[in-house]
Amino acid sequence: MRRMQPQYASENEAGHLPRRTPRLIAIGGGKGGVGKTFVATNVAVSLARMGHRVVAMDADLDGANLHTCLGVSNPEVSLADFVAGRLSEPEKLLIQTRESNLLLIAGTHSNLNQPQPDKARRIELLRGLRRLDADYVLIDLGAGSQPHALDYFLVADEGLLIMRPEPTSVENAYSFLRAAFYRRLRLAARGYGVQQLVDEATDQRNERGIRTPHDLMREIEALNPVEGRRLMQTMRAFRPRIIVNEARTSADIKLGFAVASVCEKFFGFKADYLGYVNYQNEARESVSARQPLCDYKADSDAAVYLVRIAEKLAGVPLGGRAVR
Ligand SMILES: Nc1ncnc2c1ncn2[C@@H]1O[C@H](COP(=O)(O)OP(=O)(O)O)[C@@H](O)[C@H]1O
Ligand SMILES: [Mg+2]
Repeated sequence: MRRMQPQYASENEAGHLPRRTPRLIAIGGGKGGVGKTFVATNVAVSLARMGHRVVAMDADLDGANLHTCLGVSNPEVSLADFVAGRLSEPEKLLIQTRESNLLLIAGTHSNLNQPQPDKARRIELLRGLRRLDADYVLIDLGAGSQPHALDYFLVADEGLLIMRPEPTSVENAYSFLRAAFYRRLRLAARGYGVQQLVDEATDQRNERGIRTPHDLMREIEALNPVEGRRLMQTMRAFRPRIIVNEARTSADIKLGFAVASVCEKFFGFKADYLGYVNYQNEARESVSARQPLCDYKADSDAAVYLVRIAEKLAGVPLGGRAVR
């Protein structure tokens, strides 16, 4: 039987809106269990309810569970079909969720040896995602700082970094950002000696004493001032956005500002603090109930903060309409 292509309910409410390239938002954080999937789920639902056409993709093929959080129990197709070459167009992977404006690309894991698409397939996938008829494509990343997670984060228009207020999560978030920054720099670097310098710097115990991206940029400038300035310019686009999840105290809430300031002072790049989500028992319950918190307990504080985060992403001024 042929699968019907899922459709958004509010498809072109205003008649025929011009088709535009979707905005890619990657949601990472370095550590597992910090709330990446929880945030991705609820931000996706919130954006969809604001009238945007949203695709949520599960890129965590080792621990795929975005479909469960969205209440889709047995995905008929998934990214595993793309990895295995059974389906080559991301459109064919779309699954309708309970939310009319929200489609899902599920992740499951059909091949233990090769869960992730290789680099060439990943580029193909990303091209396909940019061609999707959607306003937003949210990409839920797995834990760790492997190249595939970093690449999604770097290619996306927005990279959201989720952290929990605990030292291990903050530590992993910094390593993720550092690894992402170096990978981006390595891809942009040209000129004799510069790439070697970046490679050297990725070893924290390098003999030149390069400990942070900031030190590295200084070294590059000393080696090759023209290239240093060019790279400085390129790296301005690296602007991760921080979300603190499971905040319980005012110190937890302030963590986002502290991390943003460390990024600027010691790492030499800017990060924005997008907001926090408080710890909420109903958040756990909503996952057990396989429902987004926005459905399970829409008036809970955490659900309200998640909607605010979605509004900030969509550029909605406080109390106003979207400005995109
Ligand atoms: N704000 C929150 N308050 C309470 N529990 C939360 C909150 N956010 C996430 N959780 C719990 O943490 C679990 C792990 O979150 P998840 O999004 O799966 O993490 P990740 O995708 O980063 O591995 C969720 O299943 C949920 O039970
Ligand atoms: Mg997850």
